[in-house]
Amino acid sequence: MDMKMKFGQLDRKNAEALLGGGEERIAAQHGKGKLSARERIHLLLDEGSFQETGRLVMHRSINFGLDKQHFLGDGVVTGHGTINGRTVFVFSQDFTVLGGSLAEAHAEKICKVMDLAMRTGAPVIGLNDSGGARIQEGVVSLGGYADIFHRNVMASGMVPQISAIMGPCAGGAVYSPSLTDFVLMVENTSYMFVTGPNVVKTVTHEEVTAEELGGAATHASKSGVAHFTAADELDAIDQLRRLVAYLPNNCEERTPALPYTPGDETRPVLDTLLPENPNQPYDIRDVLNAVIDPDSSMEVHADYARNMVIGFARVAGETVGCVANQPAVLAGVLDIDASLKAARFVRFCDAFNIPLLVFVDVPGFLPGTEQEWRGIINHGAKLLYAFSEATVPRISVITRKAYGGAYDVMNSKHIGCDINFAWPAAEIAVMGAKGAAEIIFRNEIKNAKDPAAKLAEKEAEYKERFANPYEAAARGYIDEVIHPRETRRKVIEALRMLRNKAERHPRKKHGNIPL
Ligand code: HXC
Repeated sequence: MDMKMKFGQLDRKNAEALLGGGEERIAAQHGKGKLSARERIHLLLDEGSFQETGRLVMHRSINFGLDKQHFLGDGVVTGHGTINGRTVFVFSQDFTVLGGSLAEAHAEKICKVMDLAMRTGAPVIGLNDSGGARIQEGVVSLGGYADIFHRNVMASGMVPQISAIMGPCAGGAVYSPSLTDFVLMVENTSYMFVTGPNVVKTVTHEEVTAEELGGAATHASKSGVAHFTAADELDAIDQLRRLVAYLPNNCEERTPALPYTPGDETRPVLDTLLPENPNQPYDIRDVLNAVIDPDSSMEVHADYARNMVIGFARVAGETVGCVANQPAVLAGVLDIDASLKAARFVRFCDAFNIPLLVFVDVPGFLPGTEQEWRGIINHGAKLLYAFSEATVPRISVITRKAYGGAYDVMNSKHIGCDINFAWPAAEIAVMGAKGAAEIIFRNEIKNAKDPAAKLAEKEAEYKERFANPYEAAARGYIDEVIHPRETRRKVIEALRMLRNKAERHPRKKHGNIPL
């Protein structure tokens, strides 16, 4: 073979690999409203930046006719490129090749990019579209999955890991995405479940569609497995690019700051957002939006546990992780789902050097058998644990209620918050004034001529003493009581002061979060 023929051979192999499972199957993929594995990568990465690895990899199986079905690349496109100029590693499963099913060689390619990502300190983005374990290859598929799971865990907290679900994702395959930091699902064309509708029907006699059981809406609102949903694949890719911009490359780095020009940081609108009546709801996102840089936020888990709002934003150009009780939903009460949602986010931000900005308006933990029997004790403790162990800069703003154990849990001074602000309408107390009066003055109220009037009198007395921020400020639990309009300025100053914060925990192998 002369040199020209050798070059020709390479060109033919490359052309074959680029076609994946062939034009017909690519057309079928498009017909379902889905892009091909390569189209997804090219849209995700900066133009021309994709560098492929393993394009010529093939499986080695001879089972069940596989010896006659060889596809270059083995059903997954892998490599690295850049998003806004920063390196990321990607793998994109190719449903046109054996249904994107995963087996030995396919898994090895994914492991290779994960290893490189860990060695070089760059995020990993997985675009999942797969029929699961390649049935013909048997146990090596299971081994391949477990090799990936193990790397997901090793990479956890070291480099950001993001999963987009753009097709089927079933069986044990769901565990790799769930071990990653963020899961994004495309509406109507993706689903995730451990066992599909047929098995569900056989075992539990429930009739349920794939969409109901594990579609994007289900996981975004009911299970919390999905952090983001996208209307279609282009929207999904746009969201992935936006998300990456908030994240550092790895746990040793900070997210690059955006340019910021200092100006008048007072925000008079903040003085107008709280209703006169402390039992009236308001939307905490209005408060957040007035404090952060304009249009700089990306909400996480927007449809799950809506009584807690979490997300990324920028303050004076720097990335922050926002955690806020949402008085507009269930009065902002802490329940199991809200605790889990916030706890995982706090740990993510802490792992990746993202300062925490916390807004508190919480009437307490949600009472009831449903919550107690499902273990609100342990789940609430996860949030307590997550805040307590976080060493990133931490700032709290109590806008209104901070009652009971929820006061302690929501990034209080006592569990390591650096700077605690409160607004003048803050009420920092063991419980609401009415409940408190009913307990401590029970006999007095019972024996009064007019028990209702006595209760009102005692409630007012308790309110006067505790329904304010000054008792806590007098003890230094609150560093400063501020006018709401000053909040953005104060937060910017606090973040600047905390920029070089370096806190270390005592040496240990790892803590034991109450899982
Ligand atoms: C091998 C597979 C495959 C698989 C799909 N294909 N899944 N090949 N192993 N797991 C092939 C099909 O044979 C077909 O090949 C092509 O991919 C496209 O599949 P279709 O069925 O035509 O597509 P569609 O109608 O869209 O249905 C998609 C699907 C279905 C719902 C994913 O293919 C399906 O149910 N597949 C089996 C899913 C499954 O049971 N997987 C194992 C789960 S157990 P041709 O040549 O016709 O194009 C598991 C354990 C993991 O994953 C444990 C890890 C710890």
